[in-house]
Amino acid sequence: MKIFVYENREILGKEAAKFIASAIRKNPKLVLGLITGETPLECYKELVRMYQRGEVDFSQVKTFALDEYLELPLSHPYSCKSQLLETLLRYLNIPHKNMHFLDASSPNPASACQAYEEEIKRVGGIDLQLLGIGLNGHLGLNEPGSPFDSRTRIVELTETTKTYLARYFGERVPKKGMTMGLGTIMEAREILLMAHGQAKADIVAKALKGPVTTKVPASILQRHPACTVMLDKAAASRLP
Ligand code: F6R
Repeated sequence: MKIFVYENREILGKEAAKFIASAIRKNPKLVLGLITGETPLECYKELVRMYQRGEVDFSQVKTFALDEYLELPLSHPYSCKSQLLETLLRYLNIPHKNMHFLDASSPNPASACQAYEEEIKRVGGIDLQLLGIGLNGHLGLNEPGSPFDSRTRIVELTETTKTYLARYFGERVPKKGMTMGLGTIMEAREILLMAHGQAKADIVAKALKGPVTTKVPASILQRHPACTVMLDKAAASRLP
């Protein structure tokens, strides 16, 4: 694992955007796994600025959303699809057909998960997967206890995650989600994990330096051959 620590979340976001842009310049047909939530917001803003300045071209890039909430219309402002469109995708020149989302409105979400796996395979796999980390160490919606070889599937959200999500959903927090599995994530050729803020310091230290255990899903990243970690000073403050 390569771990980089930056002064604050703005600088972290800019460096992460440079990292992604450089991957796209090397491979204009990059298959990019995207996350939602607070973590990537600075990075996405910078990617949009870089695109507007003509520094990076997304016209051949393909994207796959990492997860989605169930029991929520995809048009809900905090569905992962809406968040990705609003914070990043609508500002870039990625053709709509190249954007992939987990279809939570499918009458058969389990087969939608399987179709997602097949689509990822069809395009040759994920080249670069972005990740954030939950307060309980989750990756995507792979909560503690998720098997390391899990695939894209429907999952129950833990109380920690539901409490965290109440900031977006109030009392109507989704109880379930669809997420790429840990096995799916680990097949990405390259991974970029980002985390900022003091609240993440403990879990970041456990995930990066503690034992590799399903109790801390993100600890599996210690076994990935090409994982870069970008932290701000606060998130790095408990690293041994
Ligand atoms: C979102 C996702 C989640 C978040 C994690 C951190 O697509 O995959 O695992 O990355 O919950 O959330 P934030 O960034 O809001 O702290």
